[in-house]
Amino acid sequence: MITTAVKDKTFDVAEIREQFPILHRLVKGKPLVYFDNAATSQKPQVVIDKLVEYYSGFNANIHRGIHTLAEEATAAFEEARDTAQRFLGAAHREEIIFTKGTTEGINLVASTWGRQNISAGDEIIISAMEHHSNIVPWQILCLEKGATLKVIPIDDNGDIILEEFKKLFTSKTKFVSVVHVSNSLGTVNPVKEIIRIAHDFGVLVLVDGAQSTVHLDIDVVALDCDFFVCSSHKIYGPTGTGVLYGKRSLLEAMPVFQGGGEMIKEVTFASTSYNDLPYKYEAGTPNIADTIAFKTALDFVASVGKKNVRTHENDLLAYATARLEEIAGLRIIGKGKDKISVVSFVIDKVHPSDIGTLLDNRGIAVRTGNHCTQPLMDRLCVPGTIRASFAMYNTRDEIDVFTTALEKSITLLS
Ligand code: ALA
Repeated sequence: MITTAVKDKTFDVAEIREQFPILHRLVKGKPLVYFDNAATSQKPQVVIDKLVEYYSGFNANIHRGIHTLAEEATAAFEEARDTAQRFLGAAHREEIIFTKGTTEGINLVASTWGRQNISAGDEIIISAMEHHSNIVPWQILCLEKGATLKVIPIDDNGDIILEEFKKLFTSKTKFVSVVHVSNSLGTVNPVKEIIRIAHDFGVLVLVDGAQSTVHLDIDVVALDCDFFVCSSHKIYGPTGTGVLYGKRSLLEAMPVFQGGGEMIKEVTFASTSYNDLPYKYEAGTPNIADTIAFKTALDFVASVGKKNVRTHENDLLAYATARLEEIAGLRIIGKGKDKISVVSFVIDKVHPSDIGTLLDNRGIAVRTGNHCTQPLMDRLCVPGTIRASFAMYNTRDEIDVFTTALEKSITLLS
């Protein structure tokens, strides 16, 4: 029987599960327990159907043709932009740039705003819990420009130390890029406060929303962030597409990123004039099919209701944390004040990847390792963790299966 704390007419986890075909498969002869949602979420049937519908019904290149298929594909792609605008609370549709995902969004800002505005001696601030995708692009920029990367420290629970953050600012500070929710720990950072502090110093802020957008209500206007990035595939949508939000005045002033078709107004061999937003940053044929299905995913999440999902996921987090804390020799890594449904842990004298392999033998998918956050693992003095991350379709029963399998694995390995 599937149990959940939230079972009312607006949220029934059994009904939700019915919509995700992959949840019905077996892995190694056992029912799949998918707890690797922070890496990528599974896709509901409506999203899968939308991809088939596009390719079998109106596949065409967009913004270029005058024929029916091109018009239908263009309309669906642009509807995705309207939906993403509403989902993120952006004021203007042209502030929504479709990218390959979070990583490309950050690289775009570093390569354009960064190249234009960062000079030798300038400083960029990130936090100790950043994903490599929010470290390396800034390191590359700093190396090129002779600028310095500064790091906001965290405490042992995995919370940012705001007092230390304030002390990092100097007259040379030009940019802050910070993760909204840690992929490794689940910590929800106080980004509104971080943005307010940075703006008081006249410094712009990018928020990495890769992990937050699926769990939290996002309102980029209320946050007042200057840039916000996210990926479709972590929000029940397809891989290979995502959004860069930027304030219109900033995007308008920034230089171009990639050159090619669509991002131009007029081209001669002598010079090129560039297109208006958002097309200025969408060179080449974009990921049309996946972006159209991304809209379906956003509509799906909205129809389930983020509040319902958050209540359910909070219940799973609390339940899993309590169950894991009962296991001898297990230590939870990341006990932040505010967390989403991610629980990372280590076990005395047992390597995370050995546990991951044994769990997989029982059909349970978790992620093990450094989660693309090597500096964070160094800060917390662990080589890596075992991470279980929950989505709207997970259940307490699955957590029971997981913790029982975990105990058996520990016994085998000890
Ligand atoms: N960044 C993704 C994760 O945390 C891939 O697993």
